[in-house]
Amino acid sequence: MSQSPEPSLPLVVRIAHRIPYLPPAVHFVRVRYNAWRSAHERSAKNITRKNTLRAYNRVYRSDSLLAEYLVPPRLEFYDEVAERCARLTPRRVIDVGCGTGHLLRSLVDRAPVEPQLVVGVDRSRTGIRRARTLLPQGTFVVGDLYRLRLDAERFDLVLCTEVLEHVREPALAVDALCRLCAPGGRVAVTVPDGAQDSWEGHVNFWDEDEFRAFLALS
Ligand SMILES: C[S@@+](CC[C@H](N)C(=O)[O-])C[C@H]1O[C@@H](n2cnc3c(N)ncnc32)[C@H](O)[C@@H]1O
Repeated sequence: MSQSPEPSLPLVVRIAHRIPYLPPAVHFVRVRYNAWRSAHERSAKNITRKNTLRAYNRVYRSDSLLAEYLVPPRLEFYDEVAERCARLTPRRVIDVGCGTGHLLRSLVDRAPVEPQLVVGVDRSRTGIRRARTLLPQGTFVVGDLYRLRLDAERFDLVLCTEVLEHVREPALAVDALCRLCAPGGRVAVTVPDGAQDSWEGHVNFWDEDEFRAFLALS
């Protein structure tokens, strides 16, 4: 009987090495498993990557996931948008896709005169629940931006930040935003720079010129 070349290895490993395709197959399974595991890791980024209502509900519901989502640069971004918009001294404001209401909170904190009406809409009920706590004087509505039932209302500031890159019908969304805007009012939208953005949770990617062209056509 021939002697095993590596007698110190466990028997199962020694047998495996004698089956020609087993090591590559094990490697393949391990690589696929690691990819699956990282895709299912419980991080806010991996969850929101799915870009579903369920994913956002989950992140907004959890204190720890929300803390991960509301990283300092995101809070600074809200403050920067709020700072610029506060200078417009809006009386009636709506934020479409308001998430947890942090942008509206920041705007109200900075506005020289408190707006008469502050409305936030999001399809995530857990986001809306958070927003109601964060800004009790606001009116927060669970709703789909394509089917807003606010037709009688007009706002002199319509906000929609970091939402259009997520939606399948962005032109219809812009249309809905414009319908909410009072004559002489402003619509403020932001999207990531599509020239640098390749995040899987997004479905639309515009660089600055493309976004201007898209808005001009909408
Ligand atoms: C990336 S988050 C941005 C949230 C917030 N505007 C911000 O700037 O952080 C996208 C938000 O859009 C909301 N959203 C996506 N599609 C929507 C739709 N059809 N109607 C209403 N809200 C929607 C999601 O629930 C989520 O809160």
